[in-house]
Amino acid sequence: MAKFSTVFVCQLCGWKTNKWVGRCSGCDEWDSMTEEKCEPRLTHILPEYDIESPVCLSDIKLVSKLRTHTYVEEFDRILGGGIVAGSAVLIGGTPGIGKSTLLLQVCQKFSEQDYLSLYVTGEESTAQIKLRADRLGVTSNNIFLVAENNINVILEHIKKVNPKLIIIDSVQAMFKPELESSPGTVSQVRQCANELIQLSKKTESSIFLVGHVTKEGTIAGPKVLEHLVDTVLYFEGEKFMSFRILRAVKNRFGPTNEIGIFEMCKNGLREVQDPSAIFLSRTHNLSSGSVIISCIEGTRAMLVEVQALVTSSSFGMPGRKVSGVDHNRVTMILAVLEKRAGLLLGGHDVFVNVVGGVKVDEPAADLAIAIAIASSFKDIAIPSNTIIIGELGLGGEVRGVSQFDSRIKEAARLGFENVIIPKDNTKESSRILSLTMTEVSSLAEAIDKIC
Ligand code: TYD
Ligand code: MG
Repeated sequence: MAKFSTVFVCQLCGWKTNKWVGRCSGCDEWDSMTEEKCEPRLTHILPEYDIESPVCLSDIKLVSKLRTHTYVEEFDRILGGGIVAGSAVLIGGTPGIGKSTLLLQVCQKFSEQDYLSLYVTGEESTAQIKLRADRLGVTSNNIFLVAENNINVILEHIKKVNPKLIIIDSVQAMFKPELESSPGTVSQVRQCANELIQLSKKTESSIFLVGHVTKEGTIAGPKVLEHLVDTVLYFEGEKFMSFRILRAVKNRFGPTNEIGIFEMCKNGLREVQDPSAIFLSRTHNLSSGSVIISCIEGTRAMLVEVQALVTSSSFGMPGRKVSGVDHNRVTMILAVLEKRAGLLLGGHDVFVNVVGGVKVDEPAADLAIAIAIASSFKDIAIPSNTIIIGELGLGGEVRGVSQFDSRIKEAARLGFENVIIPKDNTKESSRILSLTMTEVSSLAEAIDKIC
């Protein structure tokens, strides 16, 4: 009878030890160790290996059609132009954000091209999936469903159905009975994912693994899960907003940091191809504190509205509340405004918000945030046909930004007329006749010119 021993495994990096420790020596995180039971390896039973001889690089034949388009343009784009045969994609996101919905829609797109898909659900019943499918109008005969958690059985199903697309919803719900630890533990998740990926590579079918996220927003389970797969996608968005952003954080077959924007409608996710038009409301004139910025998300420019509200503080400690931008960045901008532009904000509460639930985390938005705060502080509105671009230095200087041309082209496309730009970017800018460009080299100069 094999004796089980106990090991402690880090949930974040997979580091193991046989003594409990409060802090992981692998990644230095506190409180990340969990207890797992493991069976000693039976060394007298020799494993059977499938020995494949090395082949010459030039002799390797690629499958005739390497990528399959889903014809959901936003989805194809973040994957680098369609789903690669034999690739493994991990898709994470908070519960209810739309992972299962999106993947069922992708199955439908595959089935329309006469490809088989196998949807393995570990959390919902097949009847629940059917209800969702009816709602989405997914009615194909090429989609197979199975509610199963045992990985050995799932592997058999995959071999039998031989689908082109496999969906595992979710990888944390699967378990391998030979392992003693319970589903969702590091060793279970790693082992199940590994076996599924190996099989999908062998059969050249693409596999999507749904991954739960922790409170901090990272995929639960070992970091190695992200190393095992070819692509990692994260679904972002506020639950109460209908917009969802799918972001590629790792992609072996395409660009990273590319985003796809979707809207959750009553019959599923609908792609949004012109995000600027959605995030900007052009029906009203901007009030003081509102500024439009041109930011880069992945490879494309997008216009979003940043709002600031400055009010006198009723309590001793002034409050700073931000949403959609980095809190530390706003604190720095406030310090620069006070020191370099003479705006005394110490006795005021400052609120900064990005409209539409979008997150803007690039330095090119600094000047716009600063101007929004100054505009609210002085109660002078910025003309609604103006875009502001520029990074702020601690000395109050306005620095040039990357991908300048894409930013101003997007502004011109949406009919804006004035752009406030950093002096550093003047040389590289191509002339756009419909735009009047105002160069600035410091924050004080920008405030002087526009509010
Ligand atoms: P779901 O795909 O089940 O989320 P996840 O798999 O990430 O947990 O999405 C569930 C949410 O989406 C739920 O709040 C209802 C909403 N929804 C719609 O608004 N329209 C639809 O057509 C569908 C299927 C779901
Ligand atoms: Mg789900």
